[in-house]
Amino acid sequence: MSKSLSTSEQQADLFASLKGQVAVITGASSGIGEATAAALARAGVRVSLLARRDDRMRELKSTLVAEGCPEPLVFKTDVSESQQVKHAIEQTLEKFGQIDILVNNAGVMYLGTVDGAETQDWKRMFATVG
Ligand SMILES: NC(=O)c1ccc[n+]([C@@H]2O[C@H](COP(=O)([O-])OP(=O)(O)OC[C@H]3O[C@@H](n4cnc5c(N)ncnc54)[C@H](OP(=O)(O)O)[C@@H]3O)[C@@H](O)[C@H]2O)c1
Repeated sequence: MSKSLSTSEQQADLFASLKGQVAVITGASSGIGEATAAALARAGVRVSLLARRDDRMRELKSTLVAEGCPEPLVFKTDVSESQQVKHAIEQTLEKFGQIDILVNNAGVMYLGTVDGAETQDWKRMFATVG
């Protein structure tokens, strides 16, 4: 009878299976996107990072390259601007030849009440979804 794997062994298996794949991560300049990008790169995934604050993504790129991870691509991109997204995707395909994973994470969330909210803030929030 085969022995069942522990959670950490399953996690190690999953990360090993990702090695060499290509991931596009939006919102990679902070929070969940940045942490996901770092975890994937450390597992040997070639990552393409998209967000507006490219200084922060370049910092992450330097850290990952210093650790010996595959060199990330960085694209200063506003995901509500379709031409910018198209450019980043085309460049990613040109450099890496494939895209296996999309982490569609970029977004802003307004936490106030609907009463008194600015229409412009809601429009900005929904613009990152498409
Ligand atoms: N944390 C939570 O509890 C929670 C709960 C529910 C949903 N979420 C959602 O999960 C995602 C990540 O949350 P987080 O907590 O990690 O937030 P965060 O630290 O504020 O990160 C948001 C990321 O989205 C990027 N972003 C925002 N607008 C963008 C735009 N127009 N174009 C490109 N990138 C844009 C930001 O980069 P730039 O500013 O550099 O562009 C940043 O990298 C968000 O979509 C958020 O709404 C989070």
